[in-house]
Formats: sequence, structure tokens, C-alpha cells
Amino acid sequence: METLDRIFAVRQRVAAWRRGGSTVALVPTMGNLHEGHLSLVRLAAARCDHVVVSIFVNPMQFGPNEDFAAYPRTLEADSRQLEAAGLDLLFAPSVAEMYPRPLDKMTQVTVPELPAVLCGANRPAHFTGVTTVVSKLFNMVQSDVAVFGEKDWQQLVIIRRMAADLDLPVEIIGVATVREPDGLALSSRNGYLSDEQRAIAPTLHATLQATAERWRAGNRDWARLEADAKANLTACSFRPDYVEIRRADDLQRPAPEDVAGLRIFAAAWLGRARLIDNLPI
Ligand code: PAJ
Repeated sequence: METLDRIFAVRQRVAAWRRGGSTVALVPTMGNLHEGHLSLVRLAAARCDHVVVSIFVNPMQFGPNEDFAAYPRTLEADSRQLEAAGLDLLFAPSVAEMYPRPLDKMTQVTVPELPAVLCGANRPAHFTGVTTVVSKLFNMVQSDVAVFGEKDWQQLVIIRRMAADLDLPVEIIGVATVREPDGLALSSRNGYLSDEQRAIAPTLHATLQATAERWRAGNRDWARLEADAKANLTACSFRPDYVEIRRADDLQRPAPEDVAGLRIFAAAWLGRARLIDNLPI
């Protein structure tokens, strides 16, 4: 496995692969890799001849009071995992390589509407940071395919919209959420949980499952279902940010005739970890 930190070097490597007729997949990450990330890498390897993983903790997508400084940076362990997974190329640029000028002086890419709900409602600049860095990575790597996790469903929908609106020549693929045996979605932020909080954390997934079950049983009062789910999370010592039933493809509220294509989304704080999850209903 080769590790590169310069944009021109990645371009050269990928261009050589493409001249040889090979297909290339990109898996963007912020590192601190776990089985969720590795499932993306495996799917990428099954789809394309070569896989590039990027590791970059992107300052533009963190708010001023968020965990940018504390975010776990574990490049050596990540490299070993990727090497063992048979990865071709790891791209791990510095902040100066990605953003040679102050962040507020850099061109930004913003998708309208979709970022205003769910995780974007309380994190106004977050998705602009994501779409800006992802479009930069797309332009740097110019892969045929890019792979993202359904754990961050809103992010996946926004990136699909960006790629469609800007006619980006890349196919976006979503991969199902990888979970612990007790249902907790794997996340780099699970490392912030104490043992006691870790024991409570699967309640987030269980609450979404129970709520989806009530919907399937015919309870269509989604405001009530959401309020009950939030009350359950609060009773289990979470601080819920939102629990919302929305359409999977455009994140709009369900109309009365919408019975298929819906998902339930939640974000909740447990100690200093903000956990998110979503399920089809
Ligand atoms: P990060 O949180 O490192 O996640 C990288 C990719 O792994 C994302 O596509 C995410 O949805 C996926 N992922 C994380 N946990 C997963 C799980 N349990 N199962 C399946 N997939 C999972 O998401 C980001 O980084 C950043 O916003 C990024 C897209 C890299 C832009 O900076």
C-alpha cells in the first residue's frame, strides 16, 4: 500500500491506472477506522480495480464548539488496517494541502434545502464543509465510483444531490450501516462513551426499531411517535437532538399518502458523544 499526502502525486498515480484501463473507487473518511469504514473499502474493491481511501479530519465541517481538536487521529493504526485489507492507495493530506488559504477565503460548495433539516438544523455550516471537501476530493482523485455509509444518510442524500446538480462524473454508492451485536452503529465517536454510557447506547437503535414497528403496525401519528421516542431516550439519560420520520430520498416530511420510502432518523447526546442513527420504516 502506498501513502501519499500531496494532491499532484495522487493525480499522477490515478491517471496512470486509468491510462491502463483500470477503474478506480474513492472512499472518503476522517480516519479512526472501524469495521463500518472497512465494509465501504471492501465494497469499493469488489466494484473497481483500484481503491483510494482518503483520511482527512476536515476542519470546515466542524462548528466552533465541536470536537475538531479532540477528534481521534490514529493514522498509524488506520494504515495497518488498510494495508491488511489490501488497499492500493491511502491519501492523507495536511490541512495546508487541502486548504492553502484561510477557510473563510476558500470557495465553498453548498447544496440548498437538504442541509437545513435533521443534523443540519443545529449545525448550520456542517454540510457545506462536507460538500466542499467531498467535491475537492472528487476533483483530486477523479474516481469512477465513490462509496459512502448509510449511517450518515443525510450526508449520502446531500452528496448524491450535489453530484447530480453539478453533473459530476462519479457514481455514488451507499453501504448499509455496520453495527455492534447489540445494535449500536459503529462510530468513531463511540470511543467518547464511558462503560456505563456504552451499555445505554444501544437504546438509540432499539428506540428507532420500536418506533418503526409502531408505524408498521398502523400508527400514522408521526408527531406522537417522535415525541414518545424522544421521551424514551430522555428517560434513558440521552439528550435527544431530534427524532424524525422523513422521506428517504428528499428528506421531506411524509405526506399522508407516503407509506413507502420513509426512514426514521435520530441524533442524541450521551455524555460528550453525539450519536446518530437511522432506519427504514
Ligand atoms: P467518517 O465519519 O470518517 O465516515 C466515513 C464514511 O464511513 C462515511 O461515508 C460514513 O457514512 C461511513 N461510516 C461510518 N460509520 C459507519 C458504519 N457504522 N457503517 C457503515 N458506514 C459507516 O463521514 C465522514 O467521515 C466525513 O463527513 C467525510 C464524508 C469523510 C467528509 O469529510
